[in-house]
Amino acid sequence: MGHRTEPETRTPCTPDWTRAPVPFPWAEWFGRAAPIRLEVGFGNGEFLITLAARHPDRNWVGIEASRTSVLKTASRWERHGSPPVRLLHGDAYLLLLLGFGPRTVEAVYFNCPDPWFKKRHHKHRLLQPGMVELLANRLSDGGELWVVTDTQEFRDHLLEVLPGSGFLEPASGSWYVEKLPEGYPVTKYMREGLAAGRTLYCFHGRKVRHAEPDPLDYARRFHLVESLARYTEAVRLRVLEQLRQAGALMEPHPACP
Ligand SMILES: C[S@@+](CC[C@H](N)C(=O)[O-])C[C@H]1O[C@@H](n2cnc3c(N)ncnc32)[C@H](O)[C@@H]1O
Repeated sequence: MGHRTEPETRTPCTPDWTRAPVPFPWAEWFGRAAPIRLEVGFGNGEFLITLAARHPDRNWVGIEASRTSVLKTASRWERHGSPPVRLLHGDAYLLLLLGFGPRTVEAVYFNCPDPWFKKRHHKHRLLQPGMVELLANRLSDGGELWVVTDTQEFRDHLLEVLPGSGFLEPASGSWYVEKLPEGYPVTKYMREGLAAGRTLYCFHGRKVRHAEPDPLDYARRFHLVESLARYTEAVRLRVLEQLRQAGALMEPHPACP
């Protein structure tokens, strides 16, 4: 007789995702199926935990590269009544490819993503054409993309990348407004921007066309195989296997054993 894995209730951290099938088994990890809402780069977790506590009928997922931020958010989660949140520790380029199937995410939030001011660093910006294309696959039809930035330069970057994709349209008239909509939680970086006298630009787009990006092309574009160098060999091999399952690898990369 098969047995059902009980969802983890003492911590919002997902089980070791490097061992998980792809896309990740969200219904199992949450202990229920519900529409997924995702925050990328959640920092101290304030935004994610606040919205999850307000809308517990959704499955809230956070992706964050910083381990310290994940641990701080896990303790915030416990102090705020353990709302339905699961945290993924790792790189958003990789986890968006592995973790989610087409049309499975109802909304994605990016709050103050790193602007990477220098031209030679623009390639590190999270919201680039290849990423927007993948988001336009992961979002459900009509799904929402929210991005808040406090830098004019990143605002101008978004004004090129979002309309240029053809997959999204402004959710309400214009691409952005210069203040947060009522009820949109303020984050640490937004607070710092406001205290320094900067304007918050709040983008709200809606998916209008489905994208079918080539996972291999996406993996190449964001150097996913090369970025695995920071993992131990055992983890690297497991993640390579996941990339293969996601269709992102035909053959093992020569740089990997
Ligand atoms: C400028 S901070 C903003 C934090 C928070 N959203 C806020 O508004 O206070 C950007 C966050 O994105 C995370 N981040 C940057 N690149 C990332 C990536 N490739 N994958 C996952 N998280 C990333 C950083 O670790 C950092 O916590």
